[in-house]
Amino acid sequence: MDRRQFSKTVVKTTLGAGLIMASPLGLYLDHGSRIRILGLAGSPRKQGNTDTLLSVLLKAAQEEGAETEKVYLKDYHVKPCVLCEQCHQNHQKSCVLKDEFQLVVEKMIAADVIVISSPVHWIAVTTNVKLIMDRGYSLLEDSFKEVMVLGNSPLNGKIGGIVVCCNSKDIKTYAEPVANSIHLFYKFLGIKLAGTILASAGFIEGEVTQNEIVMNQAVELGKKFANSL
Ligand SMILES: Cc1cc2nc3c(=O)[nH]c(=O)nc-3n(C[C@H](O)[C@H](O)[C@H](O)COP(=O)(O)O)c2cc1C
Repeated sequence: MDRRQFSKTVVKTTLGAGLIMASPLGLYLDHGSRIRILGLAGSPRKQGNTDTLLSVLLKAAQEEGAETEKVYLKDYHVKPCVLCEQCHQNHQKSCVLKDEFQLVVEKMIAADVIVISSPVHWIAVTTNVKLIMDRGYSLLEDSFKEVMVLGNSPLNGKIGGIVVCCNSKDIKTYAEPVANSIHLFYKFLGIKLAGTILASAGFIEGEVTQNEIVMNQAVELGKKFANSL
């Protein structure tokens, strides 16, 4: 069941009991449900800057009652998209290549909120993140050749977050285009972006902890996501 169907079911089943509350995003959930937040860690190094911010975000969300999970994309064997288009021949919204991409997708489908974190590598997402984005093309109902209906994917209606770290102080030049790329991916899949952190994080592992502003932003975004249904 996707989140929209899930929300509808909850609305249906709790209307009589009066347990429904309005949320900042205009969706409804009963008080007993825990929001599920999935963090996709895109850096090749664990406990680096993006991983640190993601951990802070997820911990804050957990403290607000959310169920959280972090996945290190580098631990999954994902092949590149070969543009075979078999995914769109039958509108099956899944990829025919056999590897561990499907394991990541299953986690994304099970989540309410998806947060992609990536360091800037040459003004781009890391290879690990790019592999997921490219193979995510298979989740769209139609090929890029067709007139695309945005959101025609199993991830439609989910909430999205973005964390991007670069070394430079010039976030606009280096981090913003990377976040825009992830945002475009979200748009096509129907994931609604609800928060972005762009951090000048330095080069050394964990150096981002010296940037108090973004550390606080990660806490606040975690809390926001925990309360976003
Ligand atoms: C291959 C590579 C390319 C990079 N390209 C850029 C860049 O274009 N601009 C920038 O500001 N930092 C760049 N960086 C630095 C990282 O984005 C930065 O150190 C970041 O904080 C690392 O995050 P992590 O600790 O999560 O891996 C690059 C680092 C690597 C390894």
